[in-house]
Amino acid sequence: MEQMQIDLKREQQAARERPRYPYSVVARVFFGSMDMLVGKETTLAKAKLVEILAPVPYHAWERRERARVKRHRGDPGLVQEAGAIVLWGREAQENERWHLLLIEKKIREDAAGEPWYLSAPIPFLMAGSYALLTWTMARVAIRRAILLNAEFEDHAEHTYAQLVHGHPEWEDQPAESALVQKYGSFRSWADVFRRVGLDERDHMNNSFVFAGRPEYVVEYEGMPVAAGSGPQVG
Ligand SMILES: [Fe+2]
Ligand SMILES: [Fe+2]
Repeated sequence: MEQMQIDLKREQQAARERPRYPYSVVARVFFGSMDMLVGKETTLAKAKLVEILAPVPYHAWERRERARVKRHRGDPGLVQEAGAIVLWGREAQENERWHLLLIEKKIREDAAGEPWYLSAPIPFLMAGSYALLTWTMARVAIRRAILLNAEFEDHAEHTYAQLVHGHPEWEDQPAESALVQKYGSFRSWADVFRRVGLDERDHMNNSFVFAGRPEYVVEYEGMPVAAGSGPQVG
């Protein structure tokens, strides 16, 4: 990932100070259920669970849009719109996969054990339930489905901002493994997870744009051009 002139510490602080998006009932029930299941404390293990779920909606949209393209090949506007969503969905899934790999790397470096909720079949069951929800929403109301994802991404960014704040020791822990180097060049593990948090903001911003709510995009210095400029879905 190309490193731009982004003040990661400033953006983490901005995320901590930014009020959360006014979550919908569905989102609040989801976050509340997760807190009840795994606890309210923000931990790496909890972030890992979030990352296991994170690619699920993008995968659902990718499948939906591929099916639409097959049905409407003669409609160039629809094919272009669907293609943009497929491309975005694939990029976001890849980015979320990186987040999971980085968390797993940090957990291994810390030689930390994993809590019960990361043992089979719990993550599988949660991802399955979430897949059913996102698949259904994508078919019934795609804009609402994408807006719900924006809420999840807002929640994810705040999770990372809090996680880094709760681990001041990460400031002095170098992140120099080959895996981290492939993701980017960072001074410390604190900066790695600040960047991950900012990725979540990019996901949130793109979700707002695709859902037709660009007024909610949270801008920052050095943000990618794509965030805030993608097409909306009908
Ligand atoms: Fe993520
Ligand atoms: Fe994300």
